[in-house]
Amino acid sequence: MPIPSFQRFHLPPASNSSLLVTGGAGYIGTHTLLELIRAGYQPVVLDDFSNGSHLALKRVESLAGHTLQVVEGSITDTGLLDAMFSSAAEHGSPIQAVVHFAGLKSVGESVAKPLDYYQTNVAGTLTLLQAMERAHVHTIVFSSSATVYGIPLAQPYTESHPIAPVNPYGSTKAIVEQILRDWCAAHPAHRATCLRYFNPIGAHPSGMLGEAPEGIPNNLFPFITQVAVGKRPHLNVFGNDYPTVDGTGVRDYIHVVDLAIGHVKALEHSRRATTGFVAINLGTGRGTSVLELLHAFQTVSGQAIPYEFQPRRPGDIAECWADPSTAEALLGWKATRTLEDMCADGWRWQSQNPNGYEP
Ligand code: UD1
Repeated sequence: MPIPSFQRFHLPPASNSSLLVTGGAGYIGTHTLLELIRAGYQPVVLDDFSNGSHLALKRVESLAGHTLQVVEGSITDTGLLDAMFSSAAEHGSPIQAVVHFAGLKSVGESVAKPLDYYQTNVAGTLTLLQAMERAHVHTIVFSSSATVYGIPLAQPYTESHPIAPVNPYGSTKAIVEQILRDWCAAHPAHRATCLRYFNPIGAHPSGMLGEAPEGIPNNLFPFITQVAVGKRPHLNVFGNDYPTVDGTGVRDYIHVVDLAIGHVKALEHSRRATTGFVAINLGTGRGTSVLELLHAFQTVSGQAIPYEFQPRRPGDIAECWADPSTAEALLGWKATRTLEDMCADGWRWQSQNPNGYEP
C-alpha cells in the first residue's frame, strides 16, 4: 500500500517489539493484528473466545504469513496474565505494550446485566493493569468508544466534550478511561492512549476477515449485509422523524481497516509521547444517514435491500460524528477509505462468508 502523505512521523521499524493483544480474535482485534504484524510487531493474543474466532486468527496468520502465539483465557485471570508476561520475558521477547480490546460490547445486554459488564470491562482492566505493573509494562492502547460522550451538546464531538455515558456499557468505558488517567498521573513512565471509536463497519478487502455477530445483529451495517445475503427479510429503519438530512439517524461510519491502522499509529505515538494519558477520536468527521448508507450499499452491491420505517429505537440520538483533528495532529492519522469502500468490502466478506466464521 502506498504510504499516504499525512504520515509525517518516521520512526525506526518496530521489529522484535512484542505486544500483548487482548481480545485479538474479535472483529476489530483481528484487523488490528494484521496491521500490527505488517508494521513489524510481534503480537501475543489473549482471548477467551466468548465472542472471537479461532478460524479468524488462522486467517490472520495466512494473510500475514506469520504464526501467532495465541493463549485462550480471560483478562480477569491474574495467574494467567502473570505467566504470560513472565514467559515472554524468559523467552527473550518481553512484552513492551498492551493493546486492550477484550471486553463485553452490547449496549442492550449491559442494561440487563450491568454487573457482568463492570466485572469484565472494569475489573478485568484493573487486573490487567496490575499484572502490567508487576511486569514493568508501561504502555497501553485502550479500545474506548464515542459512547462515553452520551447526549451530544454540540456536533461534531471533540475530545473535550463532557463525558456523560447513558448506559452501563458506556459507563464501563468512561470508568476505565478515568482509571487510566489516574494510572498515568501516578508514574511518569505510564502511557495510555484511549481510542474513542465512532461506528466501525466494513471488512478486510480480502474478504477473509469481517464482523460475525452472534444471532440477530444489533448494529445497522451487519443487519444490512445479512438482508443482502438473504438471512433477514428486511431492514427495520428506526425513526424517520429525526431533525436530520432525511429524517433518519446520522452516524460517523469508519472502515475497520482505517480504525486498525489507528492503533498502530497510537503505539508509535506512545513511544514518542512526553505526557501519559490521551483520549483520541477515531472517526472520519463525516456524518451519514441510515438511508444514505443503505443507498450506497445497494449501489455498490447491486442487491436490493427492502426496508420498513419503525419508531425510534430507545436511547438513540439523532446524529453524531467526530472531530478527528486530534488524531491527525497527534498520530499523523486520518481515515482514507470511503463509504463505497466500506460497503464493497463489507459485502465481499458477507457474500463469501454468509455464516461468518461458522461452516
Ligand atoms: C451502537 C452502540 C455503540 C457502539 C456502536 C458500535 C447503542 C446505543 N450504541 O452505536 O455503543 O459503539 O453501536 O458500532 O447501541 N439502525 C436502524 N436499524 C437497525 C440498526 C440500527 O435503523 O437495525 C439505526 C440506528 O437507529 C442508528 C444507526 O442505524 O441511527 C446506527 O445504529 P448502530 O449501528 O446500532 O450504531 P449506534 O447506535 O450508533
